Amino acid sequence: MKPVKVGICGMGTVGGGTFDVLTRNAEEIARRAGRRIEIAAVAMRRPNPAIDTTGVHVTADVFEIATNPEIDIVIELIGGYDTARDLVMTAIQNGKHVVTANKALIAVHGNEIFAAAQEKNVMVAFEASVAGGIPVIKAIREGLAANKIDWLAGIINGTGNFILTEMREKGRDFADVLAEAQALGYAEADPTFDVEGIDAAHKLTILASIAYGIPLQFDKAYTEGISKITAEDVNYAEELGFRIKHLGITRRTETGIELRVHPTLIPENALLANVNGVMNAVLVDGDAVGQTLYYGPGAGALPTASAVVADVVDVVRTLTADRDNRVPHLAFQPAELSDARILPVEEVNSAYYLRLQVAERPGVLAHIARILGDKGINIEAIIQKQVDDDQVPVILLTQRVLESTMNEALREIAALPDTVGEITRIRVEQLAD
Ligand code: HSE
Repeated sequence: MKPVKVGICGMGTVGGGTFDVLTRNAEEIARRAGRRIEIAAVAMRRPNPAIDTTGVHVTADVFEIATNPEIDIVIELIGGYDTARDLVMTAIQNGKHVVTANKALIAVHGNEIFAAAQEKNVMVAFEASVAGGIPVIKAIREGLAANKIDWLAGIINGTGNFILTEMREKGRDFADVLAEAQALGYAEADPTFDVEGIDAAHKLTILASIAYGIPLQFDKAYTEGISKITAEDVNYAEELGFRIKHLGITRRTETGIELRVHPTLIPENALLANVNGVMNAVLVDGDAVGQTLYYGPGAGALPTASAVVADVVDVVRTLTADRDNRVPHLAFQPAELSDARILPVEEVNSAYYLRLQVAERPGVLAHIARILGDKGINIEAIIQKQVDDDQVPVILLTQRVLESTMNEALREIAALPDTVGEITRIRVEQLAD
């Protein structure tokens, strides 16, 4: 059978890794795909000195690849929203299959892209867009197809996890660790996407869609970053038997679907609590299988290329198969997507870690406890630190409560004359059911 021709758009970290893997493992990949995969062209604005492109057509224009009649599969690795969207739509209109690692693109423009792909009968594969090298999309979309998925929670940003791990284990400075993540090629072009949770929210949006069969709704995701996590909170969390992780959590409830990214205290013996460095992990709870965990490198050239190339192999295999019977882009048949409501964060139930600075005076703690008690908020644990000062830090763990109720309680506590400065609030999850 004649080789399948691919064009790679973008030769940065992931593009270079994809070129490398397709070249070095060409024989093994052909044995799996049933035919050879040939890199017919690459588009790059700047040369990548690590890659030898001898014999491959090189252009600076990504659209040349999307319109090249020779090319069967366009591999989009330029990142970003607008040009990537135009590139992918042009490739689809030209009847090409697309493989992309671009989570921002899929989370924001995926509904439109999949509709166009459906229309043109081409595939858009995006395994590399979530959790780097972990085949979690394939696992949820195909391996768990028998299940009603109830919730999933994941560490889905390698840079953020690397920062939290280095801060906790080595007491390193936030900015210093972020600079290292950038040098290693883990961080987004705009690193606020990593530390403010936007990248994780892109990925969570995709996971929720394939878990529940809902359209992509990135604009409804609640996003909170890690930039306000302090060494104090890391230490108090440990004292209480927890670790702080930046999690993406989505849960199906009777009133709607939770879709939220935020720092979270989880029990220190939970598997997710022990996922460190740039590693990612996604814990999925299905009604038939129970909990399953997917773990591996969440960023980096070769791990991400591993997922990109696996998608290329998948697409190649479908070229000769029944095109009306492919695995649907969002796991469920397009006409079967549900319009379940995404819950605003005020309607989410969560337990909380609270850290307050209060005046050292009799009755202050009782006053705070009364405000919480009046709102039906149960206190699970409390630490009050004795310091040589007229102020003391108070750390509280509460049981689960509606976020809007907690907001009311915090407004009242903040208004007390004995409360000093801002109250820190971090959500707590047991990850048990
Ligand atoms: N910046 C992302 C991360 C890259 O750190 O996880 C992989 O999507």
